[in-house]
Amino acid sequence: MKFFLDTADLREIEEAASWGALAGVTTNPSLYARIGGRLSGFPDHIKRICELVDGPVSAESVSLTRADIIRDGRELAALAENVVVKIPTMVEGLAATRVLANEGIAVNMTLCFTVPQAILAARAGARYISPFVGRFDDISEDGLGQLEDIVTAIGNYDFSQDTVKGEQVEVIAASIRSANHVAQAALMGADIATVPFDVLKKMVSHPLTERGLDAFMKDWEKVQNA
Ligand code: E4P
Repeated sequence: MKFFLDTADLREIEEAASWGALAGVTTNPSLYARIGGRLSGFPDHIKRICELVDGPVSAESVSLTRADIIRDGRELAALAENVVVKIPTMVEGLAATRVLANEGIAVNMTLCFTVPQAILAARAGARYISPFVGRFDDISEDGLGQLEDIVTAIGNYDFSQDTVKGEQVEVIAASIRSANHVAQAALMGADIATVPFDVLKKMVSHPLTERGLDAFMKDWEKVQNA
């Protein structure tokens, strides 16, 4: 499993990148709004993230028609080599994905909730598919169960013919709310988990690790004073 950071916050990205395990970043309009982002600064902000991260950076189209999504996609892809165009799962999004994929532009199909949506996205040439775990849980559905079904269904087929570069579509476990979500996603074989920074921090820590470290430090003090 690879880890992406789900944020538009440059400080979080810089910090997470320094931990050595960051493979990419996903942003969305809400995450950009959360950091007080302005429309005029958006292209430069995405460029900056692309410099900080050695891996794919998802930047989302905010259009609703295929022509506009394709235009957004081309503009976003021109910002940096590692930009991935994030497109919502809907008819216009699928149509735009096929056009962009044929041009060799990587697409992350977002707001994906079901197996049929995921298979359609893969057949339309998406490079990544993002099932939303937490938001499914929010409506009293089984987010992890839905993710598992998508991982299984996508794994049943070869989608390499559906992308220009012959790459296999990868499933990104998205809308992750806890370290346990990440653990379960890894056990079911999701390719990637995109996690908020607070979840990434929780993934590192464990009370037994802290207790063990504390004991080692205290014992080493005894050694020093012996
Ligand atoms: C995925 O790429 C999305 O940005 C994200 O995971 C959405 O998560 P949320 O439900 O916490 O907003």
